[in-house]
Amino acid sequence: MIHRFSIEAFPQTKDTEAALQGLTAEREFAKSKLTIHFGGMSRAAKHYVDNPSPQFILVEENGSSEDIHKGLEALAEVVEPGRKVIVIGTVNDVQAYRQLINQGVSEYLVGPVTTADIAAAITSCVKDASATPKGKVISFIGSRGGVGSSTLAVNAAWTMAQATQEEIIGIDLDFNFGTMALALNLDPKQAIADALVDADRIDAVLIERFLTEHSPHFSILSTAGSLKDMSEPSPEAVERLIDICRSMAQYVIIDLPRHWSSWVSSVLLLSDETVVVANPDLANLRDAKMLFDWLKGRRGNSLNRFILNKADVAKRNQLSGKDFQDTLGMPPVLTVGFDPTLFAQLANNGQMVGEGAKAHKLNEQLRHLAQQLGGRKSGLAQPQSAPKFLSWLKRPAKQK
Ligand SMILES: Nc1ncnc2c1ncn2[C@@H]1O[C@H](COP(=O)(O)OP(=O)(O)OP(=O)(O)O)[C@@H](O)[C@H]1O
Ligand SMILES: [Mg+2]
Repeated sequence: MIHRFSIEAFPQTKDTEAALQGLTAEREFAKSKLTIHFGGMSRAAKHYVDNPSPQFILVEENGSSEDIHKGLEALAEVVEPGRKVIVIGTVNDVQAYRQLINQGVSEYLVGPVTTADIAAAITSCVKDASATPKGKVISFIGSRGGVGSSTLAVNAAWTMAQATQEEIIGIDLDFNFGTMALALNLDPKQAIADALVDADRIDAVLIERFLTEHSPHFSILSTAGSLKDMSEPSPEAVERLIDICRSMAQYVIIDLPRHWSSWVSSVLLLSDETVVVANPDLANLRDAKMLFDWLKGRRGNSLNRFILNKADVAKRNQLSGKDFQDTLGMPPVLTVGFDPTLFAQLANNGQMVGEGAKAHKLNEQLRHLAQQLGGRKSGLAQPQSAPKFLSWLKRPAKQK
């Protein structure tokens, strides 16, 4: 299986650094993003004060088990929940090993380590699919048809890929009329709908066959457009597809059709964030409110955002951002003006805003949106008392 993990490593010795550097030459990890910061565990603890945590953190600490313990406590303060931590050290006794595993460390490797040791440790962390670190799922849906939801979804995905250099998968769930591939000037290998026929068949190998690569860290599942009859996919098949994609990528950006069915609602419920795109008229306002009320009743309000698009389309007769804010109880995360020339030109050229209109203010706004959707400063409500590394990673000691 080809892993698309984000991995950051903090070696303390040149030999460990060399072993780590070999990782992306391994076929299994060729698609993973590896960043190496020399400096061991103490450097890691400082690094994550200001930086988001990747899926895997490898830290080397060649001091005593007490040094490792202290280093882990410092890391616990700054690393985000759900990440896998692998420790490389020189302490070689079963007692220390058990203690580390009890503290929530996923694997402990006794140095000197080889590339193969590191690859095996990472792979063993994900053998159990339920233990695989999960990427964040962000769904875009229009409050009405034609509001620009797909345009903004694909631009957000592209901008996130550029800004984060993390692995991003875009999924276009508009099976017949989806435009994600068209917008990116890509020719999808196979229509995504064909992958959803049988939920039991969906696995990472199958998805890999359907993914069309746009750039090294950005791939999509889409359609070339098709009028082929298809029955509605089952919510189970769509959920499985998304679940596997989120174990293959740090962010999964979904473009939902403006269509209400059991699988659409189940995607909204499983998404970490939902972005509702609306145009400034009454029908959009009513439907955006309906969607937010539905979402709020089921998953709270903190995970939902809205974008006001084509904001000045009707000038005098339109509703304002304030009207939406008063009704929806939140300001728009982004307001985009009506600019048919710009969007027609980009669509004709198969370009994103950041490619064809780099100097346009919308490019900067999209970068800001990408940061909000992707980063730590995502605006997501944090749990009242954020669980600490040592507690959230805790699991029963395993025998060695
Ligand atoms: N701010 C804007 N100004 C002008 N035109 C825009 C703007 N945003 C999007 N468009 C254009 O609006 C049209 C519809 O956009 P898009 O397909 O993204 O909407 P949608 O909400 O996904 O529609 P559908 O309901 O068909 O899925 C496209 O031609 C797109 O280029
Ligand atoms: Mg669309």
